[in-house]
Amino acid sequence: MSSQIDHLLDENRRFAPSAEFAAQANGTAELYERAAADREGFWADQARELLHWHTPFTEVLDWSNPPFAKWFGDGELSVAYNCLDRHVEAGNGDRVAILFEGEPGDTRRITYAELTAEVKKAANMLESLGIGQGDRVAIYLPMIPEAVIAMLACARVGAIHSVVFGGFSADSLRSRLDDAAARLVITADGGYRKGKVSPLKPAVDQALADRGTGAQETVEHVVVVRRGGNDVAWTEDRDLWWHDLLDQASAEHEARPFPAENPLYILYTSGTTGKPKGVVHTSGGYLTQAVFTNKYILDIHPDTDVFWCTADIGWVTGHTYVAYGPLALGATQVMYEGTPETPQPGRWWDIVQKYGVTILYTAPTAIRSFMKQGRQIPQQYDLSTLRLLGSVGEPINPEAWIWYRDIIGGGKTPIVDTWWQTETGATMIAPMPGVTSTKPGSAQVPLPGISVDVVDEQGNRVENGNGGLLVVTEPWPSMLRGVWGDPERFTETYWAKFADQGYYFAGDGARKDEDGDIWLLGRVDDVMNVSGHRLSTTEIESALVAHEATAEAAVVGAKDDTTGEAVVAFVILKESYLAVHTPEGLATQLRVWVSEQIGPIARPRDIYIVGELPKTRSGKIMRRLLRDVADGREVGDTTTLADTAVMSIISAQVK
Ligand code: WT7
Repeated sequence: MSSQIDHLLDENRRFAPSAEFAAQANGTAELYERAAADREGFWADQARELLHWHTPFTEVLDWSNPPFAKWFGDGELSVAYNCLDRHVEAGNGDRVAILFEGEPGDTRRITYAELTAEVKKAANMLESLGIGQGDRVAIYLPMIPEAVIAMLACARVGAIHSVVFGGFSADSLRSRLDDAAARLVITADGGYRKGKVSPLKPAVDQALADRGTGAQETVEHVVVVRRGGNDVAWTEDRDLWWHDLLDQASAEHEARPFPAENPLYILYTSGTTGKPKGVVHTSGGYLTQAVFTNKYILDIHPDTDVFWCTADIGWVTGHTYVAYGPLALGATQVMYEGTPETPQPGRWWDIVQKYGVTILYTAPTAIRSFMKQGRQIPQQYDLSTLRLLGSVGEPINPEAWIWYRDIIGGGKTPIVDTWWQTETGATMIAPMPGVTSTKPGSAQVPLPGISVDVVDEQGNRVENGNGGLLVVTEPWPSMLRGVWGDPERFTETYWAKFADQGYYFAGDGARKDEDGDIWLLGRVDDVMNVSGHRLSTTEIESALVAHEATAEAAVVGAKDDTTGEAVVAFVILKESYLAVHTPEGLATQLRVWVSEQIGPIARPRDIYIVGELPKTRSGKIMRRLLRDVADGREVGDTTTLADTAVMSIISAQVK
């Protein structure tokens, strides 16, 4: 089968950065020139400029044993020192590192000096529990400062953390503890979500209930942060209160350096098999690209900006753009514990107004849910401090992009659509906000020093104007170094498809436009084949979202006797339209609309108006489940859904 993906949607709007923005931006066109002249030298310069090295490196990239890379291999650094002590030593100890807002409305303002002292205590605590270099520590916490403190404390003692998203079940937690053979779990009694305390400790207890089987033997202690204040069951000798341990711990702790390739963390991400896939990231290269992208793509100016990345610490975005990147840069950031709609739908905008947030980094799924509620909610707040907006996690449809810029960004903020993955560790493709004229819906250009391409099934570059498979053609500093305990799976999953060329295959479809700018087209597993045409879910979804009545849409290919596959769409309407139109009438309108916008080939055979879409806990639509519904099959495994009830509601609506 041809890997060419047909291109249907045209988007011609362009937004050049204002002269005012460009004048103050960290990133300039010169970075691209420097990187093009000497890629490895460029990254070596970045590593030296942006980080403190206890032992300077002399080697840049060692690619003698691909796909196992070493960056800055003979250098030594302390990730924690880079995120903490050096800012205090430079006289910035009084600068606020974290502006924490709990869901109930409690707040904490933590300076760099305070954060450094807390991390030193936590590092002493870890060492008192016998945790040191290479030990695995699982962190299962809500979005509270202790999550960041725990991560940095692990980094400080050279231990490897594995953050498990607090929304995951006891089973998911157990399989991750097993796989990593964790020695310690750091959790909380609970955290606030939707106005209630959502307990965490019981899931840890359950995950460890079968001690004596497998890797459960390895967990020696469970350290519990008090947050929700609810009663917890207690296992003597195993369970310890975080506050007791920190009270006893000294606030003196020297940041020892570790080799650049010392593993920093494991982060589990979904794979095709049930076995969790532990993506491994190391220290020097990872931190280099994390800081680089915070500085040049998110344009953070540490002395003036208030940055807010809304991602949970349980995802890679929370690692690179909450824990490591902003802190290594010395930035001030907001951290919010709860859900966007608690206690009222304007909570996020209230936070932007209250803290004067200047840079907001969030996901298209959140933006579309705000579109669904309507602009009257954000318009009640003063959002004028915002000067840059970022998007990550999925393709952002042009209409959502425009809405984000106009309604949240007051029609003036550049938008950076950042493409990357858990595996890439940091942003890979994105406009540079003071340089690039942005195009709504396109992530556009690889970063300076990053080399990507769009190729056909054989690995041949496609010409501009065509679609195919997105690959990374050269190793990059923050690349994953492997899959925990499974080097074959690493090679097989990411490097086997284009083994001859030595390309990393990302699993995404993409298109290069006439300017060579990159448009992400969704996961290749989701591409449909209609009458021999390969159509991208993203483009048809974008056409649907471009209709004024639509808030969100998911498109799948369903089996069809005539066309092979047929386009089936699941659509969420904006609340204001539901009141005045019938779902049937709107479905008919939308079929005509798609036909007009992108052509009859893309016209959905069926459109189902639904109230929700099935999403993973990180907000990605699970099209596999919608395909089951569209084909009339029994719906497959729903355990990774954020809300497992959603599929039964959709199935009932469709019937
Ligand atoms: C997949 C990676 C990146 C950190 C959060 C998600 C999709 C991500 C974009 C974007 C189009 C995007 C891709 C990618 N994706 N960002 N800007 N435009 N698609 O990390 O859970 O590892 O997911 O998310 O499909 O492969 P992840």
